[in-house]
Amino acid sequence: MQGKRILLGISGGIAAYKIASLIRLLKKSGAEVKCIMTPASSDFISPLTVATLSKNPVGIEFWDKNDGTWSNHVEYGLWADVFLVAPLTANTLHKMAHGGCDNLLMATYLSMKCPVIVAPAMDLDMYVHPTTTRNLEILRQDGIQIIPAESGELASGLIGQGRMAEPEKLFEVLKAFFHASDELAGKKFLITAGPTYEAIDPVRFIGNHSSGKMGFALADSILKKGGEVILISGPTKLDLKHPNLTLIRVQSAENMLHEVQQHWSKVDAGIFSAAVADYRPVKAADQKIKKSEDNLTIELVKNPDILAWAGTQKRETQCLIGFALETNNGQEYAADKLKRKNLDFIVLNTLEDKGAGFGFDTNKISILDNHNNFTSFELMSKADVAENIVAYMKKYLK
Ligand code: CTP
Repeated sequence: MQGKRILLGISGGIAAYKIASLIRLLKKSGAEVKCIMTPASSDFISPLTVATLSKNPVGIEFWDKNDGTWSNHVEYGLWADVFLVAPLTANTLHKMAHGGCDNLLMATYLSMKCPVIVAPAMDLDMYVHPTTTRNLEILRQDGIQIIPAESGELASGLIGQGRMAEPEKLFEVLKAFFHASDELAGKKFLITAGPTYEAIDPVRFIGNHSSGKMGFALADSILKKGGEVILISGPTKLDLKHPNLTLIRVQSAENMLHEVQQHWSKVDAGIFSAAVADYRPVKAADQKIKKSEDNLTIELVKNPDILAWAGTQKRETQCLIGFALETNNGQEYAADKLKRKNLDFIVLNTLEDKGAGFGFDTNKISILDNHNNFTSFELMSKADVAENIVAYMKKYLK
């Protein structure tokens, strides 16, 4: 942690008192620490304590009322390697999710150039309230890492989830962040995600239920490790922002192929998680098709296989990963795709597994690689699945 620059944002919850221990751990490990406090947080921990431990002045107001000095929130943003907001109260969470800016901490957050991590702390009912869940999801989609609150006794006397993670845990997360943040530095990745929509007429299409969650989770995992990502996604509600991310939104398989062809030669690896429609209407009608006869026949033609195209272009130094969603004979079909599409490994989902596949936040996968190793993983969150796939891929990067 020597020389790492950590900006701590402290908002007004009882857990603020624990930040003193975190600052001590960070300082002992050689990190530089600056702190910004919301005005409410000084009811829970004294700015003098925070300034003394961090050996830096503490930012609370936009300007110092004694000498009129301006606290430059942009400079804080440029200075930090990482911004940790802990504790994150429901109020500050709401402002971060919606761009509120009524104090120095929020102005700094909105000017931030570096990655942001948050450690929520709330009472039980507040933490599980749907608005909290929604706001945390917005932060997650904005690329912010969330350290989940832990279970235990809360200030209200209730027992349940809501306690801020302990200072030792926050310290470990920061250490892991700095360790991970250059793991994939200098490497470039192409990811396809989501469904494709194949137009029948101007208002109708052939599509599928893919949510895009797996592809976005993969992009998120790579970005957090310092890699650069070109994410080519079919229609999805998901969003992700990061300075190292180029997000290209497409509709049809042909659009997706076009974008992959533009970018494939520039990347070190490709992960093709999109659920591409296998067929499209021969010709999309120019006008909305009116109903007339009892039966309507739409002639379909095969879509280009985007992954197979990348397989034909793959250089010795590139790594190519595909997905297979099977209902039966999974391993056999996956082995065939691995070979046919010239892959390094293939990630197999089967719809037989509960909680796996389209729309779920969890997935259960197996990996079959080109040395015929077959590894099965437990059911886990798509974020954890992404971590495992990225870890497996690292062995193949040249
Ligand atoms: N894929 C692709 N372009 C397509 C079809 C599939 O890039 N037109 C990719 C998917 O993103 C996935 C892999 O190929 O990584 C496997 O897709 P799948 O549809 O299961 O394979 P197919 O070879 O089309 O086999 P089938 O539909 O017969 O199971």
